[in-house]
Amino acid sequence: MNRSFSSVSRSWVLALGVSLSLLSGVSMAERAPMPPLPSPSGIDYPKDLSNIPNGTQAQSQPANSPQVGEKFLWNSANSDPYNTVSIPDKEASVLIQRAGQQWRFIRNGVITVYGGWLLALAFFGIAALFIIKGPIKLHAPMSGQKIKRFNGFERFTHWVMAFSFIGLAITGLLILYGKYFAMPLMGGVAYGTFLNICKNIHNYSGPLFTLSVVIFFLLFATRNIPGEGDLTWIKSFGGMFGGKHPPAGFFNFGEKIWFWFGMTFLGLVISASGFVLDMIVPFMEIQYIRGTMQLANIIHSSASILMTTMAMGHIYIGSIGMQGSLDGMKTGYVDGTWAKEHHEIWYNKVNK
Ligand code: HEM
Repeated sequence: MNRSFSSVSRSWVLALGVSLSLLSGVSMAERAPMPPLPSPSGIDYPKDLSNIPNGTQAQSQPANSPQVGEKFLWNSANSDPYNTVSIPDKEASVLIQRAGQQWRFIRNGVITVYGGWLLALAFFGIAALFIIKGPIKLHAPMSGQKIKRFNGFERFTHWVMAFSFIGLAITGLLILYGKYFAMPLMGGVAYGTFLNICKNIHNYSGPLFTLSVVIFFLLFATRNIPGEGDLTWIKSFGGMFGGKHPPAGFFNFGEKIWFWFGMTFLGLVISASGFVLDMIVPFMEIQYIRGTMQLANIIHSSASILMTTMAMGHIYIGSIGMQGSLDGMKTGYVDGTWAKEHHEIWYNKVNK
């Protein structure tokens, strides 16, 4: 009786999680403006001019008066290639940059919508996992044996990286999604001021995040080299199949993926593109022109959404998702039982 009740309630929670994820994705998709692909010329002019009173435009803009089906005169200015100007800013010679339309479509359409889906699915997936399975518990009681895991500097670096990242993620998501929910609530003027503050927080915490990633990398790279236990971890999907937690070294293979791909690769891609957007790339002559900024923006926002998705999983496992895991980063010490159950190879080395 009990069993069937729990399986029914689990199914309900799962269904609720999936529905909420779908709903949030759909609402995001509905709100995100999806401009139509630009016409081959890059501009869209009205095909049906019957509503325009006869001669209105011809009078006000004699050189720019289209007939039905014809193009505006300024079509000729609508070109990506550079024309000629005598001032140093050569980009001023591109009057209308057609690639900007493509960029707007990718940023406000593809990235906003699919990024929103990814974030919502990750969030509700983790919430469903927590409700259905609950945190990973230790199988034996805490031993009371305290084992040193991280020193003060390592923990300090981790928390600078963590909090700067969280600040960046929140302000970054507001920059991308704020106009869909915060602007209608706050009004344009207040929202503009608020977003300006967000942008400054974002721009100044960026370099701090980059510095902490570099230091964290130097501190932990050797402990993340693939080694003993990793193959078993991969084969059993981190213990998801087979029931038993696979023995791991100081870090397990899942943590190593987070370290190399999540923190190092994505962290550096985000940092490099962020430095371009901030126009502060050192030791290099970069042309901060529209095309460069648009590309940097697309790389920056896609990599950031991916890293935020991964970070959600990491934050969950490092806090409420696993009994005893936060102790190491909080105090520097972990309990012997936790070390034995989650990092047995390391535990055996320490206790030799
Ligand atoms: C409040 C949020 C966070 C919590 C509670 C948290 C918690 C933890 C804990 C408990 C560990 C140690 C795991 C162990 O002993 O094996 C850890 C390691 C680590 N954390 Fe976090 N963390 C947070 C945010 C972040 C963020 C935002 C990043 C990246 C930007 C990050 C990157 C890392 C990395 C790379 C490791 C080491 C894993 C490895 O080297 O394989 N953490 N975290």
